Amino acid sequence: MQLQIYKDYTALSAATASEIISLLKQKPTAVICLASGDTPRLTCQLLVQKGLEEKIDFSRFSFIGLDEWVGIPPENEGSCRYFFETLLIKPLKLSPSQVHLFDALSTDLENECKKMDALIAEKGGIDLMIVGIGMNGHIGFNEPGVSFSNYAHVIDLDDTTISVGQKYFKGPVHLKQGITLGLKHLMNSKQAILIANGTKKAGVIEQAIAGGVSNLFPATIIQQHANGFVIVDEEAAANIKG
Ligand code: PGA
Repeated sequence: MQLQIYKDYTALSAATASEIISLLKQKPTAVICLASGDTPRLTCQLLVQKGLEEKIDFSRFSFIGLDEWVGIPPENEGSCRYFFETLLIKPLKLSPSQVHLFDALSTDLENECKKMDALIAEKGGIDLMIVGIGMNGHIGFNEPGVSFSNYAHVIDLDDTTISVGQKYFKGPVHLKQGITLGLKHLMNSKQAILIANGTKKAGVIEQAIAGGVSNLFPATIIQQHANGFVIVDEEAAANIKG
């Protein structure tokens, strides 16, 4: 795992967007998984801006959404689907056939997981996976205590995720479960990037990169990824000793 520290949120987002663009230049049919959330927001915006400027071919890659809140409809502004629709799918004019997001309203969520696992396998795995880190050390909805050997699964959300997650919604919302890619997907991805910014993430970044690898703090698994990167700004790197 490599650590990269950028001056601020804009610089780390630009670097992350550049990683996606260079992969697409090299492999236009790449399989790319992104997280939604506050951290990747500017990465998505810069990807659209730079990608369109550089006339990148966005028509052939496969886009996979990392996770979704179970029971939250796509038109809800707090849903992961809404985030991707607004920030990537519409601006990049991605076709439905290249976009793969969990249907969190499905009556058969197990089948949603099976379909996602099968699709990723069929496409030869994920080339690049970009994830954030939660205030409890989660990646996607891989909550503390999750098995490192999970592929896609449905999980009961941790109390921290339920309370922090309210920030994405206009009003209080009942969050109970999530559907998510597993940490096996992260470890099997050809390149994994964990991004974090801001002072509030300094503690979790310290633990993710310097703490013992444990499923009680799932993000520690990034330490074992052979082509894993932690890309942070100076604020999120504040607790890391030089
Ligand atoms: P955030 O979420 O980017 O909104 O901080 C991170 C996460 O919970 O994974």
